[in-house]
Amino acid sequence: MRFSVRLMAALVGVTAAVALVFAYFQAKAQTRALQNELESRAQALGATLQDRVEALLDAADPAALQSYLVQVENRDSLYGIIVYNDLGTELATTPSLSAALKRLPLAVTRAISENGGRGEFIRPGQAPLYLYALPLHHGPSVTGALGMFYDASYIDAGAARLWRTAFWTLLVEIFLIVLITFLFIRWSFAGTIGRMTLWMKQWRRGVTYAAPPLPDDDLFKPLAEEVRHITTMLAAARAAAEEEARLRQSAESLWTPERLRVHVQSKLQERPLFVVSNREPYMHVRNGKSVQAVVPASGLVTALEPVLLACDGTWIAHGAGDADRETVGPGDHLRVPPDNPHYTLRRVWLSSEENQGYYFGFANEGLWPLCHIAHTRPIFRSSDWEAYQEVNRKFARAAIAEMEGTDGPVVLVQDYHFALLPCLIKAERPDARVAIFWHIPWPNPQSFGICPWQRELLDGLLGADLIGFHIQAHCNYFLETVDQALESRIDWDRFVVNRRGHRTHVRRFPISVDPAELTAASGPVKSPPVDRVALLKEHGVDAVFMGVGVDRIDYTKGIPERLRGVERFLEKHPDYQGRFTFIQVAAPSRSEIPRYRDLTAEVEAEASRINTRFATPRWKPIVYLQRLHTHAEIARYYRAANLCMVTSLHDGMNLVAKEFVASRDDERGVLILSRFAGAAAELRDALIVNPYDTEQLAEAIRAALEMTPEEEATRMRAMHRVVTDHNIYRWAANLIAELTEIRAEEPQPVSAASNIAAGN
Ligand code: F6P
Repeated sequence: MRFSVRLMAALVGVTAAVALVFAYFQAKAQTRALQNELESRAQALGATLQDRVEALLDAADPAALQSYLVQVENRDSLYGIIVYNDLGTELATTPSLSAALKRLPLAVTRAISENGGRGEFIRPGQAPLYLYALPLHHGPSVTGALGMFYDASYIDAGAARLWRTAFWTLLVEIFLIVLITFLFIRWSFAGTIGRMTLWMKQWRRGVTYAAPPLPDDDLFKPLAEEVRHITTMLAAARAAAEEEARLRQSAESLWTPERLRVHVQSKLQERPLFVVSNREPYMHVRNGKSVQAVVPASGLVTALEPVLLACDGTWIAHGAGDADRETVGPGDHLRVPPDNPHYTLRRVWLSSEENQGYYFGFANEGLWPLCHIAHTRPIFRSSDWEAYQEVNRKFARAAIAEMEGTDGPVVLVQDYHFALLPCLIKAERPDARVAIFWHIPWPNPQSFGICPWQRELLDGLLGADLIGFHIQAHCNYFLETVDQALESRIDWDRFVVNRRGHRTHVRRFPISVDPAELTAASGPVKSPPVDRVALLKEHGVDAVFMGVGVDRIDYTKGIPERLRGVERFLEKHPDYQGRFTFIQVAAPSRSEIPRYRDLTAEVEAEASRINTRFATPRWKPIVYLQRLHTHAEIARYYRAANLCMVTSLHDGMNLVAKEFVASRDDERGVLILSRFAGAAAELRDALIVNPYDTEQLAEAIRAALEMTPEEEATRMRAMHRVVTDHNIYRWAANLIAELTEIRAEEPQPVSAASNIAAGN
């Protein structure tokens, strides 16, 4: 039996049973009430007749008695009246009853023998009657009985009426239940299941155009989630297979997660991979009563997550979420991503003093402005330096504990938060292969030289076997800094530093993104277009052209400069007023640092000043979205935009530039890119700008909006190829290959480490 019929039958059965039971009790109650009412009526009448009848009997006047009975029968709507003697013989009877009774009713006998009024329902013929008998007296003795008969058929008729009504009501209910169930199943279930089935069929057949949205009802949510995962995995597997096939055919060297996995396995030979970074890939944060896993706004996380997903391993990071502690298992481990675990996250806990001194203080008020030439003065406090050393030691202990039992572990340390870590790890585990990747720029030696602890930092870094930077200029500056600050031998041909018997290779590894992550489609199928006008309308703006900027709120990103560029553009080209809107997606960042708070206020003020200057009731030049956005949310803006602006004053790489390019598999959109971002070395088909030059920014916006579709496509295609070929998998493959191919050297005592470890 079909589900719907079974459901309807069950509903109808239950409803009918309930209705019948209810009608039965209702009919019973109504009959009982009518009977009681009839009995009372009879008793009252009996009491008024009794004396008169007794008197007529005593008078022995049968004619008068007969006439009285007929009169009462008519007056009180009785069916009939009979007067009995004490033997039950009829003495007087109204005509309607004369032939009706074949035998003496029990109530009469009982009224005489028990000397009291008695009632009884009888059915002498077709019609039901109610008889009320009461004794007649002569003096104290009972001489007979008076029987009053009522037509009781109206009581049965009432019950029958009630049953009829119940029946018709039930019929209507059944009809409505069947109808509603049918429509509900058709609209809610059949429609939903049909859509899901169709969607899955499409995926199975490889028709991967934009899938209809899955329902989010509570009932379907878990199923929908699972289906979503399966289709995502299917899409990834299919894309990988297609890519592999394409690779085989064209002998191209496209790097995919599968290829990286195989590559890493062959390079690591069963050894697990260890990654250390300050920022964790998943932060658990409290949201009301629930706990949410949040992906922080971090280029580093964006870049490294695909590598860990491809290779498994352990990622050691600071547990900074307010619900992080309650979501880890033994050893402060948890498997992530939460909905599809592929690797282990080991959280390290820091006190707020440690975090203040190490992260906000030394790393972000000291090293960050030291390495970024963005005209914010570094602040060096010795207390911050103490905390920085202590936290590096803490992470070193955690990493060493994780590596226990692994021979020749391979460790990828990330960024300026851990300059001392390579040396600390090597001191304990000389067999480890340690690389550190410096995600931010390395400044010229004069700039770096103002750091009071530059020698310690350089020694810490030189504990590594390999140091990676995004671009060659940063490698050069690093070697020059080492040359000027430390006693060492530098092999400029091979870019190797020899210090205290240890060799450190310095290489350029331009980091990238996973383009497949940023396109909604897979394989050769394009992502579905995003309706720009509709997207702008969501923000209450009527416009046809749109620009986008996506940044952490950081003074290195040149956000105020960019907004002033937009302002100048609208000033110079007023015909774009009312037609062009710039959406700035801004993730709050490091807001405990005064410089960042000032910047946040400055950006808000600039956006509102420019809006006040140009806005009309239905349009404004700047939509400022200040909150953490998911990758999926950001991808929508990328795909809808005519142009993306990356105007960093100084940037190691800037993955927003590459994300924008990767997301534009439609070969549309123009990238306006700062010449001071590392990405400018690779994305040469962007419109390269100096973010300090407001006129140039304004001109670049105009050029982007007025570029011919052919030129736009040519430029975007070229950049897309760069990002696709030089994707994050290639970055990781090169880094790991370089690290594992470095010739192992005799373990040397790393004297600098003992200083760092001792906190000197
Ligand atoms: O570029 C350095 C970096 O670590 C990036 O990975 C990232 O964009 C940013 O800094 C993250 O900053 P934080 O972890 O301080 O929020």
